[in-house]
Amino acid sequence: MSPFFATLFQETKAHVENFLQQYLDHTHIPVSDDFFGILGPRWGGIFDPGSTPRVGSSEGETGDEKTASDRWPKTGKIIGNGYILSPLLEAMTTSVNNGGKRLRPLLTLACANLFGVPKEHAIRVGAAIEMVHCYSLIHDDLPAMDNADTRRGHPSCWREFGEATAILAGDSLLPLAFEVLADEATHPSPFVRLTLIKALARSSGAQGMAGGQMLDLSPHLIASVEQSIAMQNLKTGCLFAFSCEAGAILGQASAHEDQARLREFGFLLGLAYQIQDDLLDIEGNTQDLGKPVGIDTHKQSLIALLGISESKRYLQELQGKMGEVVQPYHQPLFNEIIEWVATRKN
Ligand code: IPE
Ligand code: IPE
Ligand code: MG
Ligand code: MG
Ligand code: MG
Repeated sequence: MSPFFATLFQETKAHVENFLQQYLDHTHIPVSDDFFGILGPRWGGIFDPGSTPRVGSSEGETGDEKTASDRWPKTGKIIGNGYILSPLLEAMTTSVNNGGKRLRPLLTLACANLFGVPKEHAIRVGAAIEMVHCYSLIHDDLPAMDNADTRRGHPSCWREFGEATAILAGDSLLPLAFEVLADEATHPSPFVRLTLIKALARSSGAQGMAGGQMLDLSPHLIASVEQSIAMQNLKTGCLFAFSCEAGAILGQASAHEDQARLREFGFLLGLAYQIQDDLLDIEGNTQDLGKPVGIDTHKQSLIALLGISESKRYLQELQGKMGEVVQPYHQPLFNEIIEWVATRKN
């Protein structure tokens, strides 16, 4: 990674994290004064003012041994007059600001820059994407999905806060992303904002990331390389494609040319990124990755279907295709991203 690329990564990270922190800091859950009266003594005891320990699933227990109430949050904290900082907000904040690479926002900023989009607009869209991405990771780690104990070098959300809170933290981050996009500060044109909202909605739901995750968890349905590619395109590619095309949407660039071209680049990059992720699941280590390795070997990834060396060859082929797609922009940054995707270690 060149110093230029490394600096850009750091800058994007700082901008997006600053935005996310401020946004979440001002998100409180209002509760009326008779909250505890309504909930009764059982809940009054659970939301014990002043105590902050996070109690989720107990270490060493499997989900099957617990009753539903064991999975519920055990503590909360009153702040201010009639506001509660629940474990929900803490789980959201922790899961968003715990060290992600912020690659998707970097793509949005890089693509928006091609069309002279003000940086503050691109940062808001990047932050919205990161909210969706972090939600997808919180749910991805749940016992019902990949059952992962660590994420970004920390306990995964469900491990730290419990399954119920992790599910709700994901549920809460997803709509927050659309709230950010819908705000006038994202773009003065309502048409642009609606286009972004529609495209992100499509990229996240059953026809996008969530649909891909469903297929990822249905390896019996995937028998061919084409089917595995289709699954990866939904699971990972759709959010990458949106991250890139969003720059052109913000810049009100041609839908048929620039939006489509950057979308194509995003899909190729997402596929390459996921191949490297699956290679790292086999060849990488937990220390560098901050997440467990060897947990996806039962999936129908391209590595499972093509083998390691053929997957690496295919990754190179994708790098070549990506270079051709973005060649008209003459941006050295794209070449750096294309090179980095196959060499990254985390
Ligand atoms: C992990 O994404 C999920 C995949 C699509 C492989 P990232 O590798 O971008 O994760 P963070 O945000 O940097 O932790
Ligand atoms: C997850 O893919 C992609 C998402 C849409 C969340 P993985 O399951 O391979 O991601 P990691 O390896 O847990 O980050
Ligand atoms: Mg997964
Ligand atoms: Mg996973
Ligand atoms: Mg993985």
